[in-house]
Amino acid sequence: MSFSVCDHALLRHRMASLRDRATPSNAFREILAEIGAILVTEALRAQPETTRPVATPLEIMEHPVLACPPPVLVAVLRAGLGLLEGARRVLPEAPIGHIGLVRDETTLKPSGYLQRLPPGLETRGALLLDPMLATGGSAVAAIDQLKSAGCARIQFLCVVAAPEGVARLVAAHPDVPILAAALDRELDARGYILPGLGDAGDRCFGTE
Ligand code: PRP
Ligand code: URA
Repeated sequence: MSFSVCDHALLRHRMASLRDRATPSNAFREILAEIGAILVTEALRAQPETTRPVATPLEIMEHPVLACPPPVLVAVLRAGLGLLEGARRVLPEAPIGHIGLVRDETTLKPSGYLQRLPPGLETRGALLLDPMLATGGSAVAAIDQLKSAGCARIQFLCVVAAPEGVARLVAAHPDVPILAAALDRELDARGYILPGLGDAGDRCFGTE
């Protein structure tokens, strides 16, 4: 099992603003994008490298470069779009997929309404982006879909994780590393993360 919290002072600083109830929707989206860029950068820290010759203005050198094409970026709608915005800034050449899931507010079970995945998942692997890991139902369902589509190498990147969601995801998909910006205390009776940041999709898009 692999669950880790990204250890970065700038990330913690941005999280303070993201959590703040006074942060308006446009700023929330921008901060979510910045956090997406940081998480993707951290997730790719140990990507295999090779070298290629590069001609600087002065001489030719062998320079390290990524050995493989970048993973597919897959956003869980809606709130994953906020993370995707920043992920694309650091990996503009990565193909993009979308998985639409919405949680029933009473049963807390996710239901799927859309799946659009690009070719190449089998060879590239995927970074799955969803800010909130609450009960874990949505993350498990999204990873089920990716595996059914032939994707074997998956990393799950989230902003706020609840212990309940981490336990459920690790039990269902022990092969999928989880990288979070923060691990919070618990879920409340309505399945919201405490202290959390509220409803990520609503805050991102100004809905209620
Ligand atoms: C939120 C969030 C996750 C899910 C997490 O989405 O973005 O996808 O809840 O909850 P879980 O771990 O208990 O499944 P939501 O269903 O609210 O949809 P939205 O992004 O469209 O608002
Ligand atoms: N989804 C959210 O957007 N926020 C939570 O706290 C839990 C699920």
